[in-house]
Amino acid sequence: MPKKNDKRGSDSSNLNNYIIIILASIIVILLAVLSAYIINPGDNVQNEVLKKEELIKKEEVKRLRYWSVILEVWNKAGHFRTMNRVFESLQYKFVNASLGDDWDILWAIENPYYVPEFKTNPLFMNINEKPLRIEQKVNHFPGIGVLVGKSYMNQMNAHLKYILPSFEFPSDKTKFQKFLANNPKAKFVEKNIYNRGVRIVTTKDVLQRDHKDSEIFYQQFMDKPFLIDGHAFDFGIFVLITSFNPLRIYRFDADVLFRFCKEKYHPFDPNNRDKYVVQSGCLPPYKMPTFEKVYQRYRYPSKKIFENYIDEKGFDVNLLWSKIDDAIVKIVINTESNVIERSQEFNYSTHHFFELVRFDIIFDEKLEPYVMEVNMSPNLTPAAEVYEENAIIYEQLIYNTVHMIGGGSHFEFMSRFNDSDIMIANRKNLAVDIESCLKHECHRSCAHTSCKLCSPCVSAEKRYQMREAFREHSYEGNFVRLFPAKDSYKYKELYGSLFENNQFSVDWYKAKCFENEKWC
Ligand SMILES: *[C@@H]1O[C@H](CO)[C@@H](O)[C@H](O)[C@H]1NC(C)=O
Ligand SMILES: *[C@@H]1O[C@H](CO)[C@@H](O)[C@H](O)[C@H]1NC(C)=O
Ligand SMILES: *[C@@H]1O[C@H](CO)[C@@H](O)[C@H](O)[C@H]1NC(C)=O
Repeated sequence: MPKKNDKRGSDSSNLNNYIIIILASIIVILLAVLSAYIINPGDNVQNEVLKKEELIKKEEVKRLRYWSVILEVWNKAGHFRTMNRVFESLQYKFVNASLGDDWDILWAIENPYYVPEFKTNPLFMNINEKPLRIEQKVNHFPGIGVLVGKSYMNQMNAHLKYILPSFEFPSDKTKFQKFLANNPKAKFVEKNIYNRGVRIVTTKDVLQRDHKDSEIFYQQFMDKPFLIDGHAFDFGIFVLITSFNPLRIYRFDADVLFRFCKEKYHPFDPNNRDKYVVQSGCLPPYKMPTFEKVYQRYRYPSKKIFENYIDEKGFDVNLLWSKIDDAIVKIVINTESNVIERSQEFNYSTHHFFELVRFDIIFDEKLEPYVMEVNMSPNLTPAAEVYEENAIIYEQLIYNTVHMIGGGSHFEFMSRFNDSDIMIANRKNLAVDIESCLKHECHRSCAHTSCKLCSPCVSAEKRYQMREAFREHSYEGNFVRLFPAKDSYKYKELYGSLFENNQFSVDWYKAKCFENEKWC
C-alpha cells in the first residue's frame, strides 16, 4: 500500500518537475525575447524608420499633382497665388510637366487647345504630344473660344434679349445701317476682341473707318445704366461648367464681383472713360457709401448688400436672378455643339475638362441685365491692395471648384472611374422612378420609353455621367446648379433641341427632384 502511495507520491513529484521545467522554459523564452529588445534597440528604431519611410512613400504616391502654366504675365501680384494656396492646403505636389513631370490637374491661364499658337507652345508640349490619361483634368475645354471670345459670344447670342446689338465690319455693314434707321439716337462703343480697350464712337466714325482690322467690333452703348451712389458698375458672376454633353452648369452663389467706375456717371462726358468704362483703377464696392458702412459693421457679402439695396428700391430680387440665370444657361448651351466638335477633333470626350469663367453683366436703369462678356481665366488673385477684400471670394471659389471636379483627394480623383467605389455613388443612389420601372417591367425589355431611367436600361457611359452628377451634388459647397435645374425644366421649347445626353440628364435630375426636393 505504501508502495502505491509512494508511486503516487513520485507521480505527483514528477508532475511538479514538469511544471517547473515548462515554467522555466517560458521564462527563458520571455527573457530571450526581452533581451533582444533590450540588447538590440537599434534594429527596432531602424524598423520604425523603415516603416515610416514606406508610409511616406505610399503617401507620396497618393498625392495629387498640380501643374500650372501661364504664357503672358500681367498680374504683378501673381496669377496663381490663390490657386497655389488652395492646392497646397489640399496637399498637392507641385510639378512642372513642361519639364517632363507627370501630372493630374493642369491649371492654365491660356487655353492649351487654342490653335495654332498655344498648341505649338513648348510649355504645352507635354499635353499636345501625349494623349491625356483617363483621369487627367484640364481647366479649359477645346472650343470654349466661342463662349469667351467677345465677338463670337455677341454674334452667336444676338437673338437673346440679354445681348446688346453688336456689329462686325465689313460683314455687318448693311445690318448696321438698318439698325441705325430704327435707332437714330443710338451710341456705340468700339471694342477690341482681345482686350478691354473700349471707347465711344459716333456712327460717322464707324462708317468712315477703314475696316481692315478685324479685331475691332462695335456694340450699342448702354446710355442709361443702373447707378449706385451715382456710379456705373459691372457685376461679375463666377460660373463653373463641369461637363458638356451632358451639360452641367453651376453659379458661385457666395458673392459676386462688383467693379465701380472711378467717377460719377453724370454729368456725362464721352471723352472721360473713367465715367463709363470699368477699367484699371476701378473701385471695389467697399469704396461706395452704400456698401462701405454695412460691410464694415456686419461683414455681409456685397451680393447681399446689393440685393437688399435693390429690394428697398422696389425691384424683385428673385426675378433678377432668374433672368441672369436664364442668360447664363442659354449662352452656355449655344456653345455646346462647338465644344463637343472641337473635343472630338482632339479625340477626347469632354470629361477631361472643366471651365471656370466670369460673366460680366451690366444693368440698365430698369435693372434689366445685359451680358457684356464671358471671361476665360478671370483674375483670381487681387491685383492690388485695394482689391484685397476679394481674396476671400477667390479662395473659396477655387476650393469649391477643386472639390467639384473630384480633386479633393487622391481617392476621390481616381474613384471617378471606379464603379466599385460604392461609398461615393452607388447604384442605389442613381436608381430613380420606381413606379414606371416596375409597371413597365423594364427588367424584361427596355423598349418602353418610360424605361430609359431604369437601372437595367442605363448604359455604362450614362451611369458614369449619373455618378458624376451625384458626386457633384454632394460637393456643391457655395455653388448652385443652374443646369439641369428646376428652372431649366420649364424650358420646354429648349428640351427638344437638346442633345440626347442632355435630355437624359434633365430627366434624371427631374426624377431625383421629384423624390427629394434637395435635388431640385
Ligand atoms: C516650368 O518649366 C518651364 C520650362 O523650363 C518654365 O518656363 C516654367 O516657368 C516652369 N513653370 C513653373 C511653374 O515653374
Ligand atoms: C484623332 O484620331 C484620328 C483617327 O484615329 C487621327 O487621324 C487624328 O490625327 C487624331 N487627332 C489628334 C488631334 O490626335
Ligand atoms: C475600385 O474600388 C475597389 C473598392 O474600393 C478597389 O478594391 C479597387 O482596387 C478599385 N480599382 C481601381 C482600379 O482603383
